[in-house]
Amino acid sequence: MTFLIKINGNTRSVDVDGHTPLLWVLRDVLGMTGTKFGCGMALCGACTVHINGKPTRSCVTPIDSIGTSEITTIEAIGKTAVGAKIQKAWLDREVVQCGYCQSGQIMSASALLASKPRPTDADIDHAMSGNICRCGTYVRIRDAIKQAASS
Ligand code: FES
Ligand code: FES
Repeated sequence: MTFLIKINGNTRSVDVDGHTPLLWVLRDVLGMTGTKFGCGMALCGACTVHINGKPTRSCVTPIDSIGTSEITTIEAIGKTAVGAKIQKAWLDREVVQCGYCQSGQIMSASALLASKPRPTDADIDHAMSGNICRCGTYVRIRDAIKQAASS
């Protein structure tokens, strides 16, 4: 079946089964490999994108559930004011280790700052708790979110 999806400001046509997860559409159909596959079960956060600004696990989001909602991925988050601040803070604080989880971390962090420009530690813990980093970059992630919030 053909679906028209709004992604990063463009409308894209994809011909897939309606149950296909958005993550598969992004990576395998559209060639947008910035969003990562980790667990496939909404447990790790590696696949996080924004749907209408809300952080969403694309591995468990069927394409037929999206309708006319706006999807934003890591490829375009730097074009938003908050996303650009987050990416700069990530670089300044040298957050990344292996990098695998970091697209999802940045998408969750940017959604947090878009909704709460001055998050408390508890806000950060709550917003980021579903994003797992096997390299343990959590302290630098927290510092970078605080830097972005104060910039
Ligand atoms: S790959 Fe989606 S939450 Fe882990
Ligand atoms: S930087 Fe390696 S898993 Fe997070």
